[in-house]
Amino acid sequence: MPEFDFTRLRRTPDVEAPNLQAWDATDELLVGEALTAGIHGAEIAVIGDEYGAITLALTDAGMPGIRVHQDLVTGRRALARNAAALGITDGADAARRAASERAADEPDGLRVPTYTQGELDESLLTGIRLVLLQLPKSLAELDEIADAIARWADSDAVLIAGGRVKHMTLAQNEVLRRYFGEVQPQRAERKSRLVVARHLRRPDGPPPFPVSSRHSFPSETSTSARVPRAEQVSRAEVEASSESRAEVGRSADGLTLCAYGGAFAGDRIDIGTRVLLGVMSSWAAESVSSRSQARSLNDPGRTVIDLGCGTGALAAAYALAHPASRVIATDRSAAAVRSARATMAANGLGNVEVTLDDAGSAIADGTADLVLLNPPFHLGNAVDEAAGRRLIEAAARLTRPGGEVWTVFNSHLDHRRTLAREVGITEQIVRTSKFTVTQSIKR
Ligand SMILES: C[S@@+](CC[C@H](N)C(=O)[O-])C[C@H]1O[C@@H](n2cnc3c(N)ncnc32)[C@H](O)[C@@H]1O
Repeated sequence: MPEFDFTRLRRTPDVEAPNLQAWDATDELLVGEALTAGIHGAEIAVIGDEYGAITLALTDAGMPGIRVHQDLVTGRRALARNAAALGITDGADAARRAASERAADEPDGLRVPTYTQGELDESLLTGIRLVLLQLPKSLAELDEIADAIARWADSDAVLIAGGRVKHMTLAQNEVLRRYFGEVQPQRAERKSRLVVARHLRRPDGPPPFPVSSRHSFPSETSTSARVPRAEQVSRAEVEASSESRAEVGRSADGLTLCAYGGAFAGDRIDIGTRVLLGVMSSWAAESVSSRSQARSLNDPGRTVIDLGCGTGALAAAYALAHPASRVIATDRSAAAVRSARATMAANGLGNVEVTLDDAGSAIADGTADLVLLNPPFHLGNAVDEAAGRRLIEAAARLTRPGGEVWTVFNSHLDHRRTLAREVGITEQIVRTSKFTVTQSIKR
């Protein structure tokens, strides 16, 4: 069988650059393990397959029926595009193909040349005997994935997890040991390493995620002083709080944040987010320098987009302070979207729309009177301005002429210039040692 040509894979619609590629040596090692494992494709789940390299190489090698979970919608779209370019069918067509191509000698239809995409849940893992995992960046995300495998995969399931050696830590093995009786790191190869975990232990308690914290705001109105404090709250308290929305939601001076494992900053408020929240709270107090600006920010009926919403801190804070506004929170990460939905429920914000999308691609141009933006500064594991630039371009597209984009970013990044070029006149509102908040008016 000819070797799979990984160089044909693309990252699009994610950022493409000469130093970034759509697969790595870990993908190749994981594919090699699966090809020799003697397990049928329908019993294999792939988690964290960034642009589809593992799924497509195995499907191409004649292993149909693989189930794949990718957190990022950009990865899902890249997988679909790569599959189409290779003539492989994606999940949307699976049932039709299964019905039409099922061979008489193969009643289970397992020869259907396709894969299916799913969420990190029971349907992804039931009946699975081999899980291939590209190790996630955060331990919380790994914890959630390992719990899901131990909870729902076959009792004899084996997990083969891998990553680049420079990003792997012993703490990852410790997380895996909570769920597996045997965790065996392998010898590194081409700067990647695999870890094999066997003898899963079924968790007996509820899933460890979402976690949640209540963040209260001190009463000072000075922008820099309004830093929310966090208090851990129990799951029962969060459930109770979402039921009694009037007490804990709109009327309170704080915010409950909920987070699944893969969400940015977990249930904490990121320090950059805090700085922008401080500025936003001064809008409500109408204490910003220009009164007309404060009035326009407080107008009812405004459409506000939290672009790259993470756990939804900015959208929830705005919606709590401006209940008559239409607020849309959108993120490309499924974990972020689930978290933001849980955050809205916990704060009694039934009217905030939360969508899984790449840079708000499904939202019409000029929809927003106001975009709130705390752009990403990483592409994978690398710090890169291109990730933020992509969302700034999207913010410019989504904002109506005369509308505003409020952005917080690391002060060393050159986003102010990008904002001025893409959106319009951009003014610095706050600058701390680490973070800058700007206001841009769409030309
Ligand atoms: C720095 S975090 C900010 C999260 C949240 N707004 C906050 O302030 O806590 C950036 C967020 O942007 C999201 N993101 C990155 N690229 C994106 C894209 N192309 N489309 C939508 N969201 C994206 C990430 O998943 C992440 O949740």
